[in-house]
Amino acid sequence: MHHIVAPTDTADALLLQRRGCELGYIVQTVEQGRRADMPDAATVASCWQAGAAIMLPGLLDLQPWQAEVEQSHRLMETTLETAEVSPLLEQQPYSDRLSTHFPLVASSFEEHDEQAIEKVYFDAEVNAKGETACVAEELWCKASWLSFIEADASLRYRFSFGMECMEDVAADPARQKWAGRLCDAIFPESAVITENRVIIDLLKPVLGGMPAFVERIVYFNAPNGGAQMHHDVERGHDGVVYGQISGSTFWLALGKQILMDELIRFVGDKHNCHEIERLLPDTDARKQLHALMTDRCALSAYMDEFDHELVEAIMDRSASFTGQLVKHGYGFLLTPGDVLLMPQRDLERCVWHSVIALDDEPGEALSFAVRKHNAQKANIEESQIEKP
Ligand SMILES: [Fe+2]
Repeated sequence: MHHIVAPTDTADALLLQRRGCELGYIVQTVEQGRRADMPDAATVASCWQAGAAIMLPGLLDLQPWQAEVEQSHRLMETTLETAEVSPLLEQQPYSDRLSTHFPLVASSFEEHDEQAIEKVYFDAEVNAKGETACVAEELWCKASWLSFIEADASLRYRFSFGMECMEDVAADPARQKWAGRLCDAIFPESAVITENRVIIDLLKPVLGGMPAFVERIVYFNAPNGGAQMHHDVERGHDGVVYGQISGSTFWLALGKQILMDELIRFVGDKHNCHEIERLLPDTDARKQLHALMTDRCALSAYMDEFDHELVEAIMDRSASFTGQLVKHGYGFLLTPGDVLLMPQRDLERCVWHSVIALDDEPGEALSFAVRKHNAQKANIEESQIEKP
């Protein structure tokens, strides 16, 4: 579908570059039929069960949300300029959108977290019979840099609640729902995913019920930015829905078992000797890498370690390996309106993915985790309120 080409053919070629590391070229597909077709429901269900990435091309109708998308771009630019978020959220249009249900209660510059810009706390309130009641506390929107690299201006706004890394967010679907509503209030264009009939109808059978969009992140991937190869497995959600809102991104996305097959194939191919020597100049490191490729269980466990430099060198810094994955059909070029579904069932059956920003300025993307809506726990509160 997409091909890495020699740099001499640069007419339609885009350089894949992340944090100073060049990962080859990709030909922008312009010909009919070279873009993925919209898969049918049976294909989506079988791919989801198999833990494979699924692209839904051109699905999102962004036209009705242009004003909101432009406003979000301004929010991102001002966050970049001022390295603050709360003063912006106290101005229009945010003060109006937030005032009814989400009083801003506190803010923190998160001195302990070098990547953090600002974390802004809100309560959720409802008004019933003339009385205001607080229904969820300590919801937050946290703006963070995506990397420590000065030349990478990528940032994200993450929505959750309670003590980060300590709270079992999955155990509180009602509060999860309110954190999602807070995201709706600040980024109303979220509705292109959360109220998308096609996405809901595709996810319902695979989740076994109505989807709830939780643990939301709004990304602005800047030139030279993106994300290294990783998975998003977490207790309490089944996968991630990614929607490209503006700008374009290049993705490698594939199930973990296939990724291991590809690594084993790459390391075992003698044509890649020089590339592996370049990536891992230390002889012992290369010996360890080759040993890992002979023991699938050890490789799988190693990939799940926080530090997995031996395979990270190949997955994130090799144009040859990127080319191999693209050749085998695991490269995706996402433009505004495209969606990528990434099941994340468990550590063995999950989609690993890496992202590269392609444009000259930051583009917006929505990345929402999905789980089956828990009617019993979340509906009691919801039935009492109208949507903000
Ligand atoms: Fe991810």
